[in-house]
Amino acid sequence: MQTNKTGPAGARDSILSLRGISKSYGGVKALENVSLDIAPGEVVALVGDNGAGKSTLVKIMSGAIRPDEGDYFFEGEKVAIRSPSDATELGIQTVYQDLALCNNLDAVQNLFLGREPVGPMLLGQRIRRAECDVRAREVLRRLRLDHISITRPVGAMSGGQRQNIAIARSILWNPKIVLLDEPTAALSHSAAEKVGELIRGLADQGLGVLVISHDIHNFVVTVTDRIEVLRLGRNAGSYRVGEVSGEQIVNAMVGGNEAVNAAR
Ligand SMILES: Nc1ncnc2c1ncn2[C@@H]1O[C@H](COP(=O)(O)OP(=O)(O)OP(=O)(O)O)[C@@H](O)[C@H]1O
Ligand SMILES: [Mg+2]
Repeated sequence: MQTNKTGPAGARDSILSLRGISKSYGGVKALENVSLDIAPGEVVALVGDNGAGKSTLVKIMSGAIRPDEGDYFFEGEKVAIRSPSDATELGIQTVYQDLALCNNLDAVQNLFLGREPVGPMLLGQRIRRAECDVRAREVLRRLRLDHISITRPVGAMSGGQRQNIAIARSILWNPKIVLLDEPTAALSHSAAEKVGELIRGLADQGLGVLVISHDIHNFVVTVTDRIEVLRLGRNAGSYRVGEVSGEQIVNAMVGGNEAVNAAR
């Protein structure tokens, strides 16, 4: 991975900063000159209408796709993220909307999926289940999710529990940044509230969290600290929660009130 020590302007205390990110798909400009900062201990909401470019931006941060233009800074250093493993190595974990859980496996197997600690070659590299159980219990306790069964297939669990397991999996390797793409989209109000508490807890433990959400009036204004609006692939507003109404945010998303955008 290439690094270059020149932090971006205006990044303050952020761990992860993007500057001037653009990405096109054929003739479609998914992102144009987008900048974003995530600081430790903060939950940033990334909001915008359908097609605004939110998932594309998360995929760029997680190394799933590469931008056409723009700079990526991590802890003040310019970095070249060429693959998801580059991002993972820096301490960036992503929870995608489909969760990528295996329904027939239990919570422990899902937490360690593809990253299982194995025994020595001589013993046939058997997966060390007892060690996984201990680590899984530790992580679930840290997240106050001890009530979740570690032996039931996750396919038999509720949407909220499955979301919690996907989040637990993301923090198993002690990341500095967690990115979540619509973690509450398919959840009931009470399950979404619990996931919100979990996300808040990650930030309270010092992680930088970015969360995509369409639920402005409940989730965004109660769980997050700062709101970044994308509209048609561009930055369209940056607000501190508490200094803006849900209606103003929605206006920035759809471009219904130019005065709000101009007031940035
Ligand atoms: N792989 C792709 N190929 C072609 N176009 C794409 C691709 N991925 C995204 N796009 C286009 O880029 C734009 C931004 O899409 P993106 O998925 O980032 O939006 P979004 O803000 O996440 O929307 P939603 O709220 O619906 O999830 C859209 O116009 C979309 O059609
Ligand atoms: Mg999306």
